[in-house]
Amino acid sequence: MQYGSFPTTRLRRLRRHDWSRRLVSESRLSAADLIWPIFVCEGSKRREPIGSMPGVQRLSIDLLEAAVAEAVELGIPAIALFPATPNDLKTPGAEEAWNSDNLVCRAIREVKHRLGEAVGVLADVALDPYSSHGQDGLVVDGYVANDETLDALCKQAIVQAEAGCDVIAPSDMMDGRVGRIRTALDAEGFTQVAIMAYAAKYASAYYGPFRDAVGSAGSLGKGDKKSYQMDPANGDEALREVALDLAEGADMVMVKPGQPYLDIVCRVKQAFGAPTFAYQVSGEYAQIAAAAERGWLDRDAVMLESLMAFKRAGADGVLTYFAVEAARKLRDAGLS
Ligand code: PBG
Repeated sequence: MQYGSFPTTRLRRLRRHDWSRRLVSESRLSAADLIWPIFVCEGSKRREPIGSMPGVQRLSIDLLEAAVAEAVELGIPAIALFPATPNDLKTPGAEEAWNSDNLVCRAIREVKHRLGEAVGVLADVALDPYSSHGQDGLVVDGYVANDETLDALCKQAIVQAEAGCDVIAPSDMMDGRVGRIRTALDAEGFTQVAIMAYAAKYASAYYGPFRDAVGSAGSLGKGDKKSYQMDPANGDEALREVALDLAEGADMVMVKPGQPYLDIVCRVKQAFGAPTFAYQVSGEYAQIAAAAERGWLDRDAVMLESLMAFKRAGADGVLTYFAVEAARKLRDAGLS
C-alpha cells in the first residue's frame, strides 16, 4: 500500500461532505442483508413481552402473517422461527422435536401458506426447545451423546422440511450433523432445502435472554453447553468447524455470537469465500436496548453502527432482532 504524507495527503478531505462520504463508503447495509428471528408461542392474539429483550415479543401463530408481511414489505428476505415450547411437552428424549404438528412446524406451514415464495423461512435444528434438561442433544450418563443425537436431529430436520422450511439451521454443534442431515433430507426428496450451519457457535453467556425467550433457561439450570459449543478462546478451531460443515454440504455458514466474534467472521469469509452470516444474539440486543433505555446510548445509531460492522467484517448478512426496526430506518433514510 502506498501512503502519502501531510500536507499533500489529507484523509479528512473526503470526509468533509455527505456526498463524498457516500461516494467512498466501502460497505453498504441494506434490508436484504437481514434475517429476522421471531419467537413463536401457543395461543391466539398473543404478544408476550420478553423481560430481558425490551422491544421483542413472542407472537402467536395467528399474528405471524401480518408481522412477516411487514418485514417482506421492508425488503427483509428471510425470517427464523423459534418456538417457546410449553413445559409439559418437554421430555428427556425431546420427542416433541419430530412431532410434525409441533409449534414450529405449524408456524412454518402458516408463513409458507400465507406468504409463499415472498420470504425464506429458517428453522433451528437442535433439541433444546424440547428437552426437559435444556441441552441441545440427548443426554446419556450425564454427557450429551453425539452419535445418538444425530438420528433425532435428522428426524427433526425432516418434519421441518415437510412443513415447508426453506433453510434448515443446525445449531446443536454435534460432530457430523451437517452431513447426516444433508443425506437424510436428500433421501426424503428435499434436495432443494438449504442448510445454514451454525458452524462456529461458541459456548457464550450472551445467549441468556434467548433462553428466557424460549423458556429453556429453567431447564438448563446451572448446566452449560461447553462440551459441544466452542471455547471463546479459540479462533483456528472455528476455521476447522467451518471447513467440515462446508465439506459435509452446508450451503451457508454462521458465526455466533456476532460482535464479540467479528475476528472470526472476517477470517471465515476470507478463508472460504462462502456465504457467511453472523448472529447478533439476544445478549447483544439486550446490551444495546438496556443502555438505550437508560439514555446512555442512542438506540438507532448504535443499532445501525453495530450492523454495519458486520458488513465491514465481511458478513453477507446478519440475523438480528433489530431487523424490522433497522429496515425501517434504512428505508426512511432512502438506503434500503
Ligand atoms: C439453540 C439456540 C440458541 C440460540 C439460537 N439457537 C441458544 C443456545 O444455544 O443455548 C441463541 C440465540 C440468541 O441468543 O439470540 N441451540
